[in-house]
Amino acid sequence: MIEIPQLRTARLRLTALREDHFDAYAHMLADPSSTRHVGDGKPLDRLNAWRSMAMLLGHWMLRGYGMWALERLEDGRFIGRAGLLKPEGWPDLELGWMITPDARGRGYATEAAQTALDWAWRELGAPRVVSLVRPGDTASEKLAARLGGERVDTVEFCAAPAHVYAYHPPVALARSAAG
Ligand SMILES: CC(C)(COP(=O)(O)OP(=O)(O)OC[C@H]1O[C@@H](n2cnc3c(N)ncnc32)[C@H](O)[C@@H]1OP(=O)(O)O)[C@@H](O)C(=O)NCCC(=O)NCCS
Repeated sequence: MIEIPQLRTARLRLTALREDHFDAYAHMLADPSSTRHVGDGKPLDRLNAWRSMAMLLGHWMLRGYGMWALERLEDGRFIGRAGLLKPEGWPDLELGWMITPDARGRGYATEAAQTALDWAWRELGAPRVVSLVRPGDTASEKLAARLGGERVDTVEFCAAPAHVYAYHPPVALARSAAG
């Protein structure tokens, strides 16, 4: 079993998903605005939210990296998930995000995703990370661009098109990885 690392940003703690996050996690995934651009586009009931949470935790054990729960330092509240994903069938190492509806528009996704991306360069030595963004998901497009992502491709992904935004490691890290 690997220990899921904890990271801190100015306003957030990135930590392992826990059972006491579940009600807030299920509430987030039951909201159509959370799932419109994810998977098959449909909201999740509690059973499928449970499966989703268990899959994300299992992903850490199987791959050694994954998605973190986001807790706001100010009040300890669960405000979303962000991190790295590459389950079976994924085209590349993905940086993904989801923020609870009432916490959007405050830069939390940017803050968490930037920290997860820095961790991928530093701890995984990843040569490239991507975000798979459904056409029309303007919030994610803006976020990917804010993180330095460049739109390089469009692929068929989970039976629908997705724009591929690619990120590359900072030059100094890429050089040291190359030896
Ligand atoms: C995609 C998603 C995570 C983006 O959330 P978000 O809150 O818009 O993103 P950020 O947290 O980076 O916030 C950016 C916004 O906050 C504003 N903001 C406020 N304070 C800020 C700060 N300190 N730093 C940065 N931005 C700040 C920005 O101006 C920006 O607003 P704008 O989009 O009107 O320009 C959110 O819409 C979501 O959860 N969607 C559902 C899940 C989903 O579709 N995931 C995508 C799968 S690919």
